[in-house]
Amino acid sequence: MQNQGPVVDTLPDLDAHWDVVTWSRDYETGHTGIDSDHQRLLVLFNEFSQAVNSGKGPVVIREVLDELTDYTHYHFAREELIMQECDFPDYGRHKRMHETFIRQVEDVSKHYMNGGDLSAFLLSFLAKWLSGHILSADRQLGRYLGENAAEH
Ligand SMILES: [Fe+2]
Ligand SMILES: [Fe+2]
Repeated sequence: MQNQGPVVDTLPDLDAHWDVVTWSRDYETGHTGIDSDHQRLLVLFNEFSQAVNSGKGPVVIREVLDELTDYTHYHFAREELIMQECDFPDYGRHKRMHETFIRQVEDVSKHYMNGGDLSAFLLSFLAKWLSGHILSADRQLGRYLGENAAEH
């Protein structure tokens, strides 16, 4: 649904075809730690997109990509721990989604290391995946945490 704005903006044309994902309140899960992780994750994702977009060299792109990958691992582990501690019923499915995303990022990374192009499609796919995951799965988790806050 386009109308309630998460906000996957496409940069104005130039040579720019990469999507950036802009934080908005639509992304809030209500869990402060998860929300601040997500903001950082989007910043890193956009840095990656824009490094590619502005034609930065492989050393810089590699650096940003590594940072994005490391932070993604950190954030997913944190979220999974929270789910386990709170007996989140959808833990298994949610964890598998994380694993899929990690695989995609690693595929992009390997592809790039092997001299491949980082196409707009790949970045746009990842941007949409990431924002879609936060809007659906992570917000579902946020609601659960809110409802069970007294016990956990
Ligand atoms: Fe998640
Ligand atoms: Fe998340």
